[in-house]
Amino acid sequence: MKTKIEEYLKEVDCFKADSIEKLEEFRIKFLSKKGLIPGLFADFKNVAPEERKEMGQFINKLKNQVQEKIVNIKESLETSPDTASKQLDLSLPAHAQLGSRHPLSIVRNDIIDIFSRIGFTVSEGPEIEDDFHNFTALNFPPDPPARDMQDTFFIEKDPDIALRTHTSSVQVRVMETTLPPIRTISPGRVFRNEAISARAHCIFHQVEGLYVDTNVSFADLKQTLFYFAKELFGEGTKIRFRPSYFPFTEPSAEMDVSCNICGGKGCNVCKYTGWVEILGCGMVDPNVLESCKIDSKKYTGFAFGMGIERITMLKYQINDLRLFFENDLKFLEQFKASY
Ligand code: PHE
Repeated sequence: MKTKIEEYLKEVDCFKADSIEKLEEFRIKFLSKKGLIPGLFADFKNVAPEERKEMGQFINKLKNQVQEKIVNIKESLETSPDTASKQLDLSLPAHAQLGSRHPLSIVRNDIIDIFSRIGFTVSEGPEIEDDFHNFTALNFPPDPPARDMQDTFFIEKDPDIALRTHTSSVQVRVMETTLPPIRTISPGRVFRNEAISARAHCIFHQVEGLYVDTNVSFADLKQTLFYFAKELFGEGTKIRFRPSYFPFTEPSAEMDVSCNICGGKGCNVCKYTGWVEILGCGMVDPNVLESCKIDSKKYTGFAFGMGIERITMLKYQINDLRLFFENDLKFLEQFKASY
């Protein structure tokens, strides 16, 4: 037994390991349950009594040397530059992932800011709407084609429940519960059953506005939207109105702004017309006021509605609307400096 132990001691002394795996093999060989050292202890009972003391010390010496060796090698492996560099590299720059606002949020906040400076409040409402708030109160005729015109996603039929197709529904809710004067904008998500393309999506965002008071005229509408356009697109921005049709406004118009990219000279964004369409608007139809129990003889109002995607595309010269929904960091990180 003594010679065996002497051999083991030599082996332990010469042992070197350049990896944790090799060191573990060494540990298992000597110290595991079925390893050499427990084996020696098991054989101990066969040792003659007069040799026991010396042999016992000898086995313990071996055990201590194995343990010491393991601790030392482990320490040097962990601190060796080679392994340390594999585990962590202190020279790497700190990887702080700072978030950035989504471009649609930046523009929505800009729009809210502009209107709140002239006294508009912000109102919100449900995305799942009943027929009354999305259509009937807004003077849509009862027959289906008018409702289909908005490519509605219906959830239930009779009574009709649908995803709201515009945030005009929020304005109905405000008019039902608030006495004029009312000055409010309603930003929010809207849904239309449209094929997804570079210019359209089945989910998009709107900001709609409503002003109801005594003596509100088309001049007020023009002045408010002119102020808005200049604040959003820059001082030199011009506006123009084209006649249009919406069931809830009379008269109705679409508003264009002078193209902020070419300054009105003509480019591919404005299709060489110098103008880009940004919103629909008009004087609130008296029927809408009456549906919301507002006296249409006493009060008049104007309303407008715009798509946030479209305005963001113009502001940042983005040519594909799908980019807003893909959450590609390479796209989103470009807006870090914007807010
Ligand atoms: N609700 C209209 C739409 O979604 C926009 C609009 C609002 C037009 C208010 C006129 C007045 O297209």
